[in-house]
Amino acid sequence: MTGYLDRIGAGLIIAHPEILDFDHLPEELVGREDLQEALASKFTTVGSPEGAARAVITGPVGSGKTVLAKTFCRDLRRHLSGKREINVAHVNCRNASTSMRVAQRILHQFDPGHPDRGLSMGELLMSLRKMLRRTSTHLIVVLDEVDHMLRRSGDELLYQLLRIDEDQEGKGTVSLILVSQEQVLDVLETAVLSKFGQSNHIRVPPYTVDGLEAIARQRAELALVPGTWNNGILRLVAERAGNSGDARRVIEYLSSAAERAEFRQDGHSEQAITVDDLHVVNDELATNTKQRLEIVDDLSAQGMLVLLAMCRRLRTEESMTMGDVERLYNVVCEEYEQRPKSHTTLWKHVKNIEQEGIVASRVATVPGGRGRTTHLSMPHFLPADLAQRLELLLPKRLARR
Ligand SMILES: Nc1ncnc2c1ncn2[C@@H]1O[C@H](COP(=O)(O)OP(=O)(O)OP(=O)(O)O)[C@@H](O)[C@H]1O
Ligand SMILES: [Mg+2]
Repeated sequence: MTGYLDRIGAGLIIAHPEILDFDHLPEELVGREDLQEALASKFTTVGSPEGAARAVITGPVGSGKTVLAKTFCRDLRRHLSGKREINVAHVNCRNASTSMRVAQRILHQFDPGHPDRGLSMGELLMSLRKMLRRTSTHLIVVLDEVDHMLRRSGDELLYQLLRIDEDQEGKGTVSLILVSQEQVLDVLETAVLSKFGQSNHIRVPPYTVDGLEAIARQRAELALVPGTWNNGILRLVAERAGNSGDARRVIEYLSSAAERAEFRQDGHSEQAITVDDLHVVNDELATNTKQRLEIVDDLSAQGMLVLLAMCRRLRTEESMTMGDVERLYNVVCEEYEQRPKSHTTLWKHVKNIEQEGIVASRVATVPGGRGRTTHLSMPHFLPADLAQRLELLLPKRLARR
């Protein structure tokens, strides 16, 4: 009786699940060339034997700060291989919030077997210094979510690390990258930024919908079976995550939709991610959709007819054009025995529905054709649910007039 497990590991939709993991370190960073260059420009001296650098990276949640630092260190290490030995200690200070623990972690990433029990901070740093000298290695210390350590233990460790060479012969032994979310900039501001130099501060902006779409595309190309996804699905996933600007969300939505598509494979179902797979994805929006469905109650009767037309198409398609809206609106009007309004009025209703946040719009090229047109989609609602509510309300609303 293990038939219910058949679909686990079948890989009909998801070919490489590990790539949909948040911890997967992508080979290429998508759309962050300017930030990569900004960071690299702080590290120009690191190619020479005594060069060291420092940088502070801040930005909102999920804006790719950690992955920027990680890919940079990885790439730099490769780039300088044969020229200068680079080691990287990436420590997340959320899990090691005292400076003592952070120092232990740094040492351990460099030398996993190193005994640290009972050692004082001074002794830990002394060991680190000795090891670095012995192996003539340049160490890049990345203190991620550094605000946790700053709050608990202050900034002492930062200065100890920066002064690691002061004692004697060595120079340029350690580079330091601090990473933190933006809201805690106040902690950084007083403690660190002034001393680190404002020019070493790299501000990472939140992702736009286009940026999120590009990230979703990268993951889909690498993780999913070709032909099981299309551009419309990626766009919808990105629009859904759009408000947050958070890359983690877009990956999560893609991955849950793919999992659902995978799980419903039974030999008959479509072997591709559908709009439904995406809409079933649970998030805080979906949990209170019941109440949120009431958003349509305040629309005018005409607005409801327009929205109903849109829902019917968006139940199965990721997006639709104004031409589609107009065609389906005419059908809905016929069904409810209403005379269709003019093109301009229809357009106004669509804009109003968009302002309410029920649909999203963007201008893009016509699929398979030339020229540009408005594409409408419904990233935050289940079109079927809205349609049901509209069908319930419309007869009363029309009778009242
Ligand atoms: N430009 C990008 N290209 C490819 N993947 C990205 C990009 N930006 C972010 N990601 C992926 O999105 C996820 C979130 O990114 P990351 O962990 O770097 O965000 P963060 O800014 O450090 O978030 P937090 O503030 O929560 O620490 C990761 O899985 C990361 O690999
Ligand atoms: Mg992070």
